[in-house]
Amino acid sequence: MEALLTVGELRKTYRRGGGVFSPESDGARFTAVDGINFSVARGETFAVVGESGCGKTTLARMLLRLIEPDGGELRFEGRDLLALRGEKLRAARCQMQMIFQDPFASPNSRMRVGEIVAEPLAIHLPVVAQVATRIAVMRAGRFLEVGDAEQVLHQPKNDYTRELLSAVPEISRV
Ligand SMILES: Nc1ncnc2c1ncn2[C@@H]1O[C@H](COP(=O)(O)OP(=O)(O)OP(=O)(O)O)[C@@H](O)[C@H]1O
Ligand SMILES: [Mg+2]
Repeated sequence: MEALLTVGELRKTYRRGGGVFSPESDGARFTAVDGINFSVARGETFAVVGESGCGKTTLARMLLRLIEPDGGELRFEGRDLLALRGEKLRAARCQMQMIFQDPFASPNSRMRVGEIVAEPLAIHLPVVAQVATRIAVMRAGRFLEVGDAEQVLHQPKNDYTRELLSAVPEISRV
C-alpha cells in the first residue's frame, strides 16, 4: 500500500530542570520520543496508545511540525516535511489533523480504556474515522508493539500491552 506518512527515527529531547529558575543547573536532557519508526498508508487510521507521559503528544506535535524534532525523518506524500517552510508548510498542515481523546469522555480510573481510541493520528482521513485500523503501543518514548488493531487488542505480543489491556475488561467486546 502507498505510504501517506513515513516516520523514521524521530526523536525529541527536552531539557529537564535548569532553565530560567535554576540557571546554575545545565538541565539534564530527557528523551521524550526516542527513535520512532512507522508509516501510515492511505485510508488507515493509526492510533498511538500509552500511559500518561509516554510521549504521544510530543510525537503528534512533531508530525504536525508544531514542535521541531531533534532528529529523524518525516515524509508526507513522499515530500520531506521537515524541509518545508512558510507557505508550503502551511499548505501541508491544511492536509493534516490530529484527533485527541476527550478527557471528559472517560472520567474514571479506567481512563486508559479511552486511550485505545485515544489520540489517533488521523492524517488526511475523515475525522469520523475514530476506529483504529492499526495501533502502536508506546512506552517511555518508544513503540513497544505495532500491529493491526485486531491483533494488538486481542492477541498482544508484548507483556506491557497485555498489562495495559488487562486494565480494560471492556476491550474484549470491541
Ligand atoms: N515542553 C516540555 N518540556 C519538558 N518536558 C516536556 C515538555 N513537554 C512534554 N514533556 C515531557 O515529555 C514526556 C512526554 O510528554 P507528552 O506530553 O508527550 O506525553 P503524553 O503521552 O502525551 O501524556 P498524556 O497522556 O498525559 O497526554 C513527559 O515526561 C513530559 O513531562
Ligand atoms: Mg498527551
